[in-house]
Amino acid sequence: MAEIIGAITTSHIPAIGKAIATKQQNDPYWKPFFDGYEAAHAWLDEVKPDVAVVFYNDHGLNFFLDKMPTFAVGAADEYRNEDEGWGLPVLNSFKGDAKFSWSIIEHLIDHEFDITTCQQMAVDHGVTVPLTLLWPGAQPQPKILPISINTVQHPLPTAERCFKLGQAVGQAIEAYDSDARVLVLGTGGLSHQLDGERAGFINKKFDLECMDNIVNDPQALTRYSVPELVELAGSQGVEILNWVAMRGVLSGPVVEVHKHYHVPISNTAGALMVMEPEAQAKRRAA
Ligand code: DHB
Ligand code: FE
Repeated sequence: MAEIIGAITTSHIPAIGKAIATKQQNDPYWKPFFDGYEAAHAWLDEVKPDVAVVFYNDHGLNFFLDKMPTFAVGAADEYRNEDEGWGLPVLNSFKGDAKFSWSIIEHLIDHEFDITTCQQMAVDHGVTVPLTLLWPGAQPQPKILPISINTVQHPLPTAERCFKLGQAVGQAIEAYDSDARVLVLGTGGLSHQLDGERAGFINKKFDLECMDNIVNDPQALTRYSVPELVELAGSQGVEILNWVAMRGVLSGPVVEVHKHYHVPISNTAGALMVMEPEAQAKRRAA
């Protein structure tokens, strides 16, 4: 059976991709942010995932406001990137694993998640920035299974529903007949608002509570309504829904391996968390 080896949440700000492309990691503005990722690189070098399930939100590259699936799951062997208009270089395609995707999709449909399946899917900065941040060098990147959650056009799915989606994905991974080592990513956040009267809004108190709850009490996050999340985290901070879905995948006790919070980076509270199942943490410590 496939093994869930841990989870990472990270902001996916396009400016990070630009800083990587223009090699600004040691620039005084960027250095404290990028330094926070070294511990994540060391952990990834040790646990070596084969596949990464990526909960993210598409920002208008693959889905536009005219057709907006609540949950969309990739079912391809390759996911291309395209010019989104942020001045980011267009990256080479990312490898997928259609067989793995279809197994997850069949489980989700069987368990009453009426998802959209995507045999072609362009992935935007919600996927590409976390992958380039986490695998910056020549190390082989895992294959990906992108799952897009609508955090853009209301009505959005509830946090409770996103958590349940994650739980169903977790059960599907554990039922998958393979020895694949599976990492789960939740991208976006933390608090930010890019437009309107509250543009620039950041809520450090709420962010730090979220980072604690995502490890120790994820149910506390599922009790917020979407309007409450918008109020507390900003209209784009509602990307925390991707984090909640990611956390649903981890069923047993979870240990925090690393966390990093840096404010502000671009318009956003930049946040990184690495967590793993308790049993694995004990094995690594032994
Ligand atoms: C920014 C953050 C995002 O999550 C995003 O999708 C685009 C921009 C920002 O902080 O600039
Ligand atoms: Fe975003």
